[in-house]
Amino acid sequence: MKRRFQIGFLKGVGLLPHHQFLDLGCGTLRGGIPLIEYLDVGHYTGIDVRPAVLEEGCRELEEAGLVGQAPRLLGCKDLREFDAGRRFDVIWAFQVLIHMHDSVLDGALGAVAKHLEPSGIFYATVNLDERPEGTWQGFPIVSRKIEFYQQAVALHGLRLDDLGSLNSLGHVHPRLSEKQQSFQRMLRITRLK
Ligand SMILES: C[S@@+](CC[C@H](N)C(=O)[O-])C[C@H]1O[C@@H](n2cnc3c(N)ncnc32)[C@H](O)[C@@H]1O
Repeated sequence: MKRRFQIGFLKGVGLLPHHQFLDLGCGTLRGGIPLIEYLDVGHYTGIDVRPAVLEEGCRELEEAGLVGQAPRLLGCKDLREFDAGRRFDVIWAFQVLIHMHDSVLDGALGAVAKHLEPSGIFYATVNLDERPEGTWQGFPIVSRKIEFYQQAVALHGLRLDDLGSLNSLGHVHPRLSEKQQSFQRMLRITRLK
């Protein structure tokens, strides 16, 4: 479901094969595999902080027969130092910002501002409730108010729109009710004009 949702959402908002696409926090290519298949050769770049998941991503790529699509998979320990050497039409962070403490988030938003084409769009999921912090595989699980994200992106010359809950966009969790899922939101982030 999480794989289908990602490509479905991105096609729905107008992702085209010729777009240059950055999958920030790409993991093992759960979302990446169909995107790599859809995008033109060499138009997918994935970055992740964990070398082991990128290695698994490479195996998934081989298994899917998509090595010829020439995606770039890059390891990056600190997003403040990330330089892809190019800009992107679409940057995507699916269930990634929710795993960032505020200083890491600031580095991620700096990387986005540096790499987004002037008319580019950054889509990111966040948790907008006020639950206590959790953990996932050594990362935090954070929730913040929308005002926090508005201020955080503005520091990097960006603005955001809340596109609604993931549930309302078709990301239907098999076990959680609509209400329980309503705090998971999709943000659309662009440059301040
Ligand atoms: C929940 S997984 C989502 C993976 C992928 N986006 C997907 O939907 O399948 C979160 C990913 O974000 C990566 N991540 C977390 N913090 C990061 C950081 N500071 N820089 C790069 N990647 C990060 C993790 O290693 C992990 O692979």
